[in-house]
Amino acid sequence: MSSRKKVWVSRPLFPDVLARLAEHAEVQAEAVERRHAPEELRAKLAAADGAIVGLADRIDAAALEGNARLRVVANLGVGHDNLDLAALTRAGILACNTPDVLNESTADYAWALLLAAARRVGAAERWLRAGHWPEGMRFDDWLGVDLHGRTLGVLGMGRIGRAVARRAAGFDMRVLYHNRAPLPEALERESGGAEWVDKATLLRQSDHLVLVLPYTPESRHAIGAAELALMKPRAVLVNIARGGIVDDAALAAALREGRLAAAGLDVFEGEPRVHPDLLALDNVVLSPHIASASADARHAMAELAAENVLAALGLVPGRPPAPLNPAVLEAGRRARKT
Ligand code: DGY
Repeated sequence: MSSRKKVWVSRPLFPDVLARLAEHAEVQAEAVERRHAPEELRAKLAAADGAIVGLADRIDAAALEGNARLRVVANLGVGHDNLDLAALTRAGILACNTPDVLNESTADYAWALLLAAARRVGAAERWLRAGHWPEGMRFDDWLGVDLHGRTLGVLGMGRIGRAVARRAAGFDMRVLYHNRAPLPEALERESGGAEWVDKATLLRQSDHLVLVLPYTPESRHAIGAAELALMKPRAVLVNIARGGIVDDAALAAALREGRLAAAGLDVFEGEPRVHPDLLALDNVVLSPHIASASADARHAMAELAAENVLAALGLVPGRPPAPLNPAVLEAGRRARKT
């Protein structure tokens, strides 16, 4: 039997990153993108020393039941609501994520959605492709809302939120934000001169609002019917954070009834399903959770996940770069029967 550590990779990954893992460990990488049934997930995790998982893999107490081997779970993402950190910590398993390497690319994408939704890029393209242009176009068709000179709101001013805010200077925008607590002044200055306001003021005063907060039980439906009612009717809402932060049914109603100009959504409640009311609307730009999907960012995320696993298993020197439950490291590595 091989004494090499085993690493399970739950989804297809860049070949050079798999090769890097394979220099140090026996790698079992899934060749096809698919969802793993709970029983299969449990079995794959039970047979591995380390795992690299995606956001669709829910790693909770049930997935870890009877697991006496696994030492590290590295998430391919900065958000980690798919990991039950308490269960992982109880089991003595290190959890890691991929912060920072995706900040700028994800912020770029927030602006892509904001611009596309505000200026109706998706709907106009569908209309053109459907061959309607030769039928005639009025001077007052396709009127969008402007970004320049307006007020940008950011809900959730972490590292990605700040990268979104910084870009507002190019559009001469004032930036408002809400977090539980205001940022230090120096960070506000670096973030487009952003000003902290309470959440209701943010909703009322923002011409456009970008959501960048993590998903927690408290942030579920942080934007629901009541919050949407506070927003300006010509506002655009962008969600690059997580599905479930917005009440998608309430949002669809607001968009349909003209209480909000448009939305750009990369994430959805219950994705990969998308609320049918959203699919039926033309004033929403929809994308399949790809805000971090630039070639460079995704590659850097994969590399960071691999380094997390290799370091956690002691296969390369040093501490795992991005631990989420460092208490596990401090408590020393789990004694394992292999
Ligand atoms: C993240 O890293 O949390 C992103 O949503 C994944 O693309």
